Amino acid sequence: MTDTHVSRVRMTGVSKRYGALQSLDDVSLTLAPGEVLGLVGDNGAGKSTLSKVLSGAVIPDAGTIEIDGREVAFASPADARAAHIEMVYQDLSLCDTIDVAGNLFLGREPKRRVAGVPLLDKKAMHERARDMLSNLGIVIPDTRMKVENLSGGQRQSIAIGRAASFDPSVLIMDEPTAALAVAEVEAVLELIRTVSQRGVSVILITHRLQDLFLVCDRIQVMYEGRNVAERRIEETNIEDVVNLIVGRKFAARSAGHNREKGA
Ligand SMILES: Nc1ncnc2c1ncn2[C@@H]1O[C@H](COP(=O)(O)OP(=O)(O)O)[C@@H](O)[C@H]1O
Ligand SMILES: [Mg+2]
Repeated sequence: MTDTHVSRVRMTGVSKRYGALQSLDDVSLTLAPGEVLGLVGDNGAGKSTLSKVLSGAVIPDAGTIEIDGREVAFASPADARAAHIEMVYQDLSLCDTIDVAGNLFLGREPKRRVAGVPLLDKKAMHERARDMLSNLGIVIPDTRMKVENLSGGQRQSIAIGRAASFDPSVLIMDEPTAALAVAEVEAVLELIRTVSQRGVSVILITHRLQDLFLVCDRIQVMYEGRNVAERRIEETNIEDVVNLIVGRKFAARSAGHNREKGA
C-alpha cells in the first residue's frame, strides 16, 4: 500500500542513550492527519522517551523528524509548540492554587489597558475559558474553582483543554487515564474523539488496552527501545496486542538474548 498523503509526523531512525541504557534504538513512527495512534509497550519500552523527543523535551542522539514533510530539529518544548505539537504529561502540570481559567491561560492571560496600564482582564478570561471548555464538551461547573478542588478527571480535562487551546496539529497524551476513576476515563476518550475528528493527530500512550479499541485507528508496539509491531486496529485484538507487548520478551529470553548483557 502506498501513502499518497504527506504524513503529519514522520520520525525515522530515532535513537537515545542514557549512559549504558539504549532507551531508543532506531525507532520510527508515522502519524497521519487526524489519526489516533496507540503507543503501547511494557514499562521501560521507551514510549515516554519517544514522545518527549517529538515534543522537544528530549534531544535524540540520532534520527530525523519531519512535520508535514518538512524536517525539524527541536531544541525545546517551545520549538515543538511552535510547530503545533503539544504534550499532556502523566503528572499533571497544573497549578493547584490557581482557578480553572487561570490554568487554561497560564502565561498568556488576557489583558486590558486602564490608563495605559495592562491589567488582567478577568471577565474576558472567564468568558473565554467557558467557551474553550464548552467547545470541547468539557463539563466544569465554574471556571473560578481552584484546580485543587477538582476531581482527577476534571483536572485531566483541563490539562487537555489547555493543550488543545494552543491549536495543536499533534496532541501527545502519556497515560492520560492512569490516575482516573473508571467513569472519568470515558470523558477523556470522548475528548480524544472530539479533537481527532477536528483533524488533530493524537498519540495515546496507555496501559488500558481496551481503550485502544475505542479510540485508536492504529497501534504501534515498542519493546526495549525498539519498534516491535504495528497494526491497524481492525486487524488486531487484545490477545494479539498482549502477545506483541510480552511476546518478544519470551522469544528474546528463550533465544538467550539480553540487551543489557555486558552493560
Ligand atoms: N532521563 C533519563 N535518564 C536515564 N534513563 C532514562 C531517562 N529517561 C528514561 N530513561 C530510561 O529509558 C528507558 C525507557 O523509559 P521510558 O521512555 O520512560 O519508557 P516507557 O515510557 O515505555 O515506560 C527506561 O529504562 C528508563 O529508565
Ligand atoms: Mg512512560
